[in-house]
Amino acid sequence: MTKFIVALGQGKDFANALSRHSGARQLAYHVERFPDNEMHIRYKESVKGKELLLVQSLSLQPNDALLELVFAGRTAKELGAKKVIGIVPYLAYMRQDKRFKGGECISAKEMAWLLNNSLDALITIDPHLHRIRNLRQIFKIPAKNVSSVDAISEFVEKKFSADNTLVVGPDWESFQWARTVGRKAGMKSVIFQKQRFSSRRVKVHYKKEIDFRGKNIIIIDDIISTGHTMIEAVKEIRKKKPKAIYCVCVHGILAENALQKLKRAGAKQVISCNTVPGITNKIDMAKEVAKEIK
Ligand code: R5P
Repeated sequence: MTKFIVALGQGKDFANALSRHSGARQLAYHVERFPDNEMHIRYKESVKGKELLLVQSLSLQPNDALLELVFAGRTAKELGAKKVIGIVPYLAYMRQDKRFKGGECISAKEMAWLLNNSLDALITIDPHLHRIRNLRQIFKIPAKNVSSVDAISEFVEKKFSADNTLVVGPDWESFQWARTVGRKAGMKSVIFQKQRFSSRRVKVHYKKEIDFRGKNIIIIDDIISTGHTMIEAVKEIRKKKPKAIYCVCVHGILAENALQKLKRAGAKQVISCNTVPGITNKIDMAKEVAKEIK
């Protein structure tokens, strides 16, 4: 069955890259706002009998983006689409995976409930799997996790020389990227420890004496949200006189001027995969996703 790509509001750049890599054509679709800010979506050509790949990043405006994906998925099915697959480069709400305080919503479960009831399958990139260890725990539809590790490793290998570069994971959860990228690129890696006090207050530290002096340091994490995790790591490392510090992430959300704050803190460059629209995107994950939709 021929596949058609549908670029939803926050999926345009990724959808264009995916079309380029996969050769799949984009189907005409439109989203706009009514004066009262309600969303209005429309398929501008028939979806009947087609397999659709709805591309939407649940980033920048996650609530709007999620609702648009739900509307687009359910409408496509109602109009007779044969299969509706969500290509969601950044899957929001995955960090709210536990009831931390009494009365809280476990938002990851509710987000999954919405998508379970709107799509036939999901493809996403490195979702934040922490207390939820596997997408199968919350998704009933087939849900595939595409890893960014090979793409990041390839980028790091090309840009930095192994003998003078150290890879840092700013917290235990970043181990899976930092350690693996370090190994693949032939570089040493170290993992810091992090304490989080609130969404905007964290502290990172490391136990062993590490020689940062004169080296290129690449800090790798899955998400840069407010940037505080990276900022604290940058500040700690700067005390030890490295040559330069680079911050690399899968999902560059960069909320609340995080990019400027990171640069002020001493990061030479911030580099992300193209899962969230933004100017730091240098690593193309559409190429990896294209392999999954062949
Ligand atoms: C958390 O566990 C994640 O792996 C990231 O470290 C976190 O989301 C980064 O958030 P922020 O940039 O707000 O410190």
